[in-house]
Amino acid sequence: MGIIDRALAESVRVIPRPIVRKISSRYIAGSTLEDALATIRELNERGCKATVDVLGEGIRHKSQAIETLNEYKRVLEALDEHGLESGISVKLTALGLALDEELCRANLEEILISAAAHGRFVRVDMEDSPYTSATLDLVLEMHRRYGNVGAVIQAYLRRSLEDVERLAEHKVSVRLCKGIYDEPRRLAYKDFDVVRQNYILLLERLMEEGCYVGIATHDEYLVWHALRIIHRLGLSPDEYEFQMLLGVDEELRTILVESGQRMRVYVPYGRQWYEYSTRRLQENPKIATYVAKGVLGL
Ligand code: FDA
Repeated sequence: MGIIDRALAESVRVIPRPIVRKISSRYIAGSTLEDALATIRELNERGCKATVDVLGEGIRHKSQAIETLNEYKRVLEALDEHGLESGISVKLTALGLALDEELCRANLEEILISAAAHGRFVRVDMEDSPYTSATLDLVLEMHRRYGNVGAVIQAYLRRSLEDVERLAEHKVSVRLCKGIYDEPRRLAYKDFDVVRQNYILLLERLMEEGCYVGIATHDEYLVWHALRIIHRLGLSPDEYEFQMLLGVDEELRTILVESGQRMRVYVPYGRQWYEYSTRRLQENPKIATYVAKGVLGL
């Protein structure tokens, strides 16, 4: 993202909240579990699996972490009850990582035990760089004890190749994405092409090492490279999956599904929609229109 793009992206913050809510509604299933279940059912009918995210990062009180834990338990019950094909995605700060690491570990463990009882997989989302090491350490620790957990690697981080080697050694399932947080250049590549090339490098390493990869991107250039690597390694469609965000490039999603690829869609829901929505708007190519609409009330 260039300087002007970044300034434009930041200006999403001046859009009044009700307008942010309106223009970002395509990215979120709704505010209730019922909304999420309806969205997942629709996705399942279109040949996509899902992963559910209960929105609620950056909490202030430990009680909020417990509320999130309980909501995930409700999600796991409901997925079974409705016979839906979906795992869950959790953010460790929503489980208390920034407040009390022990509490977070206990909450994650409880989610993993509950998910295992329901035969569900838990993806631990990756947040900004202060949490990278703690998140990967916890995922690796849990992976040794429970099989149903996977990590996320961000291709923009300079450290990611080392992290990939470490995860690959233990055959941890990895969702590979570009990364969405605004990181300092010291830690993250800033050049669009370098991030893309690093994504390809990391994907190649993970697949060569036999890790199950969630190829999380809407960038057709990367999708093409993924298909090239898959072809070269002779992988079958059950040895990896593509992943996309709800509300982004449904055309590419359909093309991949119809060509026999496994596809999982990230389905966020909940009342804490603001942070997630602004991140999605900031990467929308139509950001300038949205800012103008928001500021000028067009
Ligand atoms: P890029 O941003 O270049 O987008 C490629 C094309 O996709 C754009 O040109 C546009 O056409 C379309 N597009 C992308 N975003 C859009 C939007 N919001 N609205 C409309 N069109 C859009 N990040 C992270 O740091 N930690 C995490 O845990 C995750 N988890 C995650 C899960 C899943 C399933 C996905 C798909 C992505 C994530 N991400 C993430 C986000 C990821 O890091 C990245 O920010 C976005 O996927 C956008 O990057 P692309 O690879 O799609 O490329």
